[in-house]
Amino acid sequence: MAKRNEGKQKDASSAAGSEEAVAPGEEQEDPEAEEEEAADLLALTALAQMDLEAAEAYQIGADCMPDAAVARTLLEFRGDHLRHVQDLEEIIVEIGGEALDRSYAEASVFASLANAAGALGPTAALLAMISNEKLTNSTYEAILRLDWDEDAREVLARNYSDEQRHLRWLEENRDRFLAEEQPIADA
Ligand SMILES: [Fe+2]
Repeated sequence: MAKRNEGKQKDASSAAGSEEAVAPGEEQEDPEAEEEEAADLLALTALAQMDLEAAEAYQIGADCMPDAAVARTLLEFRGDHLRHVQDLEEIIVEIGGEALDRSYAEASVFASLANAAGALGPTAALLAMISNEKLTNSTYEAILRLDWDEDAREVLARNYSDEQRHLRWLEENRDRFLAEEQPIADA
């Protein structure tokens, strides 16, 4: 998985004498390597989409927060998620995939739930962020169990570390929010 530069080298022995011999300078794709890259692309693209949706949800959450410091922190988390998208995209493009379509994020499930929670008030919005973070954390944790090359693993581990930090902060603040039950922000 994600051994991106392996399996793409020309197999000179099998190509020799074949009508489909690879011309000098060209690469012969290894079907197994192609399958692995396709699986990598699916996983990384899904991950980047999830990060993009989480970023959108944080924007919605920040917009309904009356506490400026909390809103600022949520926007910092949004920035982390957008950086994840960018870093994942670099890998995706490197292995032959395409950059993400960012236009759909506003209509995503994450965004819809964040909008619904935001309408109920900041505490509900914070609880929605916690649900999102539980999903992003468990997804990164699962994906990191796969066999990634060093560069991809570094990006994934860094992103997962951000996710753990986000969830920790939200859970630490959840009790305070529940205790204070801050007033619902003006619509
Ligand atoms: Fe996060």
